[in-house]
Amino acid sequence: SEILDLIYNNGDVEKCKQDTICKRVPFMEMIIPGVQNGVEDLKKMQSPRLVKTHLPVQLLPSSFWKNNCKMIYMARNAKDVAVSYYYFYQMAKMHPEPGTWEEFLDKFMTGKVAFGSWYDHVKGWWEKRNDYRIYYLFYEDMKEDPKHEIQKLLKFLDKDLPEETVDKILYHSSFDVMKQNPYTNYTTFLKARMDLSISPFMRKGILGDWKNHFTVAQYERFEKDYEKKMKGSTLSFRSEI
Ligand SMILES: *[C@@H]1O[C@H](CO)[C@@H](O)[C@H](O)[C@H]1NC(C)=O
Repeated sequence: SEILDLIYNNGDVEKCKQDTICKRVPFMEMIIPGVQNGVEDLKKMQSPRLVKTHLPVQLLPSSFWKNNCKMIYMARNAKDVAVSYYYFYQMAKMHPEPGTWEEFLDKFMTGKVAFGSWYDHVKGWWEKRNDYRIYYLFYEDMKEDPKHEIQKLLKFLDKDLPEETVDKILYHSSFDVMKQNPYTNYTTFLKARMDLSISPFMRKGILGDWKNHFTVAQYERFEKDYEKKMKGSTLSFRSEI
């Protein structure tokens, strides 16, 4: 979201500090009565609008397909998502208690988590990628070569920015800078909604943290199940680089 907002503001960092990331790029389906309403926030905005969603492909409102909107889908390898989600569940209080890591991993594998099965989610969007204007972006590629990925995004968006602007965007969207930016680190959220002292929103931003969490037994069970669930798909992820 931050990268796209920076792109649409031609790298003007001050403009991107006029409001929190959740207001600049509303989270469409996030509706908490009296507190936040993504749909209402979006209605007040003018085109071109940046919309954030976590919806699985089959739940996306049909107007997105009809209007041929450009979409960027960000996917990340399952094991790192499971770990990241475990911490997010603990601090973002709109979720039920995640239980132990072992228990949460079970829920993740059976799709009993917010927004459903990771496996169906990534496959669902993957299958649509050639029929619509979908840019399927891998978190791992973004970590490996963020500048190259931003340049590819610019191409997808038919945007042309000078290299110094790209470098500026690169710097301001880096993990360390965003972690210290109150407009992106969720510090303005009420503690009752997100308790950043349990786990910060910007937690580690690395690849392969699953290695610090999975036991050998969990890894083996996970991989066996993964193969079954992803069988027949051409989609493949890197869990390390
Ligand atoms: C968010 O940014 C503010 C301002 O730089 C900083 O004081 C705070 O520690 C950051 N929060 C987290 C959780 O990193």
